[in-house]
Amino acid sequence: MAMLQGRRILLGVTGGIAAYKSADLVRRLKDAGADVRVVMTRGAEEFVRPLTFQAVSGQPVHNSLLDPQAEAAMGHIELARWADAVLIAPATADALARLAHGLADDLLTTICLATEAPLAVAPAMNRIMWAHPATRANVDQLRARGVHIFGPGAGDQACGEVGAGRMLEPLELVDATAGLFGSSLLRGVSVLITAGPTREPIDPVRYITNRSSGKMGFAVARAAVAAGARVTLVAGPCNLPTPAGVERVDVETAEQMLEAVMARVDAAQIFVASAAVADYRLAQVAASKIKKSQDAMQLELVRNPDILGTVAGLQVGPFTVGFAAETDDMHAYAEDKRQRKGLDMIAANWVGRPGTGFDADDNSLEVLWEGGGASLGPAPKLQVAEELVRLVAERYSDTVQA
Ligand code: C5P
Repeated sequence: MAMLQGRRILLGVTGGIAAYKSADLVRRLKDAGADVRVVMTRGAEEFVRPLTFQAVSGQPVHNSLLDPQAEAAMGHIELARWADAVLIAPATADALARLAHGLADDLLTTICLATEAPLAVAPAMNRIMWAHPATRANVDQLRARGVHIFGPGAGDQACGEVGAGRMLEPLELVDATAGLFGSSLLRGVSVLITAGPTREPIDPVRYITNRSSGKMGFAVARAAVAAGARVTLVAGPCNLPTPAGVERVDVETAEQMLEAVMARVDAAQIFVASAAVADYRLAQVAASKIKKSQDAMQLELVRNPDILGTVAGLQVGPFTVGFAAETDDMHAYAEDKRQRKGLDMIAANWVGRPGTGFDADDNSLEVLWEGGGASLGPAPKLQVAEELVRLVAERYSDTVQA
C-alpha cells in the first residue's frame, strides 16, 4: 500500500466495543508504512487500556487536553498540524454528534477542529442508533462538510443484533485511509454510478433478472473515491459490501433506479452507467402468487426506461459514460451505441467469453470517445476501473476546460 508509506495518521479511538479492533488497525496501518499516533477518549479507555495502543504504536498515547506535561511534549495544536490524516475508529454515535456540532471539550474533538488534514470516521454502533434520524442528520452534516464516512458495514453486532452499524474491518479501513492519499484527479467532483442488475417482479415471489454481479460498478466506485471524488452508487440487488467512502442507494427495479438517479443527477458532474438494467418489465405485476394451473403461460413485457439515455438527453447534464456488453463486432456496435445515445464515453466488454465480463473478477474494456479510444486489461476489475477513472478524469477535465 504505497500510498500510506511515510504518512502520518492520527487515530482517534472513541468508546465503543469495536475499540478492541483498533489495536489491530494500528498494526495494519504501520505494516502499510504509516506513522501512527493514537488519541483516546475517556470512553475508549473503558474498553481498551492506553498501554495496548502504546505498545502497538510504539508511541505514547494522547488522552488529555488539560495535562500540562502532555501538552508540553506534543500539544493539541502540534498534533493537529502533525497529522496528514485524522481517522476516528471506532466513531460512536456520541462522537459523530459532537463532531457535527463542532464541540471541542476533549483532546480528540479539539484536534478535529484544529486540523486542516482530511478527517475520516468509521462509525460503529447498534443498528437502531445508526438508523436514528439524529445520527443520520449528524452524518449528513459531516459528509456535507467533507468528512469521509468509512462504512459502517452490516452483519452481526456485539449487542446480539444483526444490521448496519459494524465498524469496517481493519484491512478495509487501511484501504480506505490509503484512498485519502490517492490521486486528486477527481478531487471535489461528484460522480453518480449505477451498478448491478435490476430485478423486475412477476408476482410477490418471482422476478426477472440477469447475471450482473455489480463487481465492475463497485470497482469504479472504489477507484473514483481513491481519485478524490464524492461518489454515490445506485445499486441493484448485489451481494457486495459498500466501498468505503461511498454513499450507496439500494434499488430493485429499473423504474426505481431511474428515480434514484434522476433525484441525484443534478448534483453530479459525471454519470457512469454500469448497471445491467433489465430492458423489459412485466406489463402487470400479479398481486398474488401465480398458480401453475395452465400447461403454458405468457407474460406480457413492456420496455423499461433507458436510464443512461435519459441522462445523456438532459439539456444540462453530466459527463456520461455508458457500458456495452457485446458478443461480436464490439467496436462497431459500441461506437454506434455511443453516438446513438449521445454519450461522452463508452466502455465495451466482451460477454460470453470465459474469464471476463459478468461475475468474473477480471475484465478487459475497449473504451471509446469522440476521436479516440483505449484498450484496458485484461486485469483485475479494480485495476481496470482505476485506468477507466483516469481516462474519464482526463476527458472530463478537457470538456470542462473547453
Ligand atoms: O442499450 P444497452 O442496454 O446495450 O446499453 C447499455 C448501457 O446503457 C449501459 O451503460 C447500461 O447501464 C445503460 N442502460 C440504462 N438503462 C437501460 C438500459 C441500459 O441505463 N434501461
